[in-house]
Amino acid sequence: MAAAAFLLIWVIASLDGAKSLTSPSDIAALKAFKSAVKPSSILPWSCLATWNFSATDPCSIPRRAFFTCGLLCSDDATRVTQLTLDPAGYSGTLTPLISQLSQLNTLDLSDNAFYGPIPPSISALSGLQTLTLRTNSFSGSLPPFVASLRNLESIDLSYNSLSGPLPKSLSSLSSLQRLDLSFNKLSGSIPRLPATLVELAIKGNSLSGPLKKDSFGGLAQLEVIELSQNSFSGSLEPWLLLLPSIQQVDLANNSLTRFDVAAPPSVADSNLVAVDLGFNRIEGNIPVSLASYPMLSALSLRHNRLRGEIPAEFSKKQTLRRLFLDGNFLSGKPPPAFFATQTAFSGSLGDNCLRDCPASSQLCVPSQKPVPICRLT
Ligand SMILES: *[C@@H]1O[C@H](CO)[C@@H](O)[C@H](O)[C@H]1NC(C)=O
Ligand SMILES: *[C@@H]1O[C@H](CO)[C@@H](O)[C@H](O)[C@H]1NC(C)=O
Repeated sequence: MAAAAFLLIWVIASLDGAKSLTSPSDIAALKAFKSAVKPSSILPWSCLATWNFSATDPCSIPRRAFFTCGLLCSDDATRVTQLTLDPAGYSGTLTPLISQLSQLNTLDLSDNAFYGPIPPSISALSGLQTLTLRTNSFSGSLPPFVASLRNLESIDLSYNSLSGPLPKSLSSLSSLQRLDLSFNKLSGSIPRLPATLVELAIKGNSLSGPLKKDSFGGLAQLEVIELSQNSFSGSLEPWLLLLPSIQQVDLANNSLTRFDVAAPPSVADSNLVAVDLGFNRIEGNIPVSLASYPMLSALSLRHNRLRGEIPAEFSKKQTLRRLFLDGNFLSGKPPPAFFATQTAFSGSLGDNCLRDCPASSQLCVPSQKPVPICRLT
């Protein structure tokens, strides 16, 4: 009887022990995290509504009624490894105490209404692999990107109100593969980028100045550049399309004035499939060397100030599927091969100064500029 009572007490005690496995500093950080979110924005069906610290331990398993989502813990249930909130419209600030979750590998608060600064203490999360704060209202400057963030592979801070320059420290992120800072209010030029980068997206900001080779030096894995809707100016030099792994370049809606292209050193040496330089101020002729990129399938140079004839090389290019050259001052007769075959080919040569663009062809819509305008320019 006494033994049975002792056993019962022991079982209760160990159950109780199992309840408080999570490290006290992680619990404190989670409490601070939740208290920085406005209670009125925590809807009854949301993840945060189930975070009840007086009911149970955050990492205890099974999760029947409390902490049912938003968190993942280490296998031994002592440390929080992921904080991935549901898009439930949470509004509040991000506590600087987040840095106490020192085993965190994923922080994802996307599609909510968090505001205020991204606390600089976030740079102390040395195990962080994924940082996703996409579609919130964070403002202020970017957090310092320090070398101790050596595991960080993906940063998505797009659709916020972040301002100021990109920190020079960016290049010290030695594992970064994906960086998306699109649709913020960032300004200045692009500093040296991390050598491991595969995808770069900083669309819809106020970045300016020329694109410098120094920023992109040694980026052997970079496949995607999305920098449309900024204020980049000056020349686009040949090195950009010659980056060893580059596939897609989108620089539409900037203020570039020159586009210089060199053919790839050998046909096997380029995976470039898409180039969009529409809505810039590019002068001169269409660079013929573009046609020697073996995989090129989509090219837009629409709404620039290009002159001269359309090189026949483009009409013979088998890989080309989309070609937009409308809104320039191109002249002469378009290469007849464009209209010869029933290829699956879309695009436009309209709104130029071309002669004899067959009205029957979709490629010739819209119509050419009025002759007086073409004479004037
Ligand atoms: C949290 O859990 C405690 C203990 O189970 C309970 O008394 C309290 O009502 C819970 N609070 C909420 C908001 O569910
Ligand atoms: C560029 O700007 C034009 C005109 O404002 C707009 O229609 C187009 O969607 C923009 N394209 C890109 C890729 O930003």
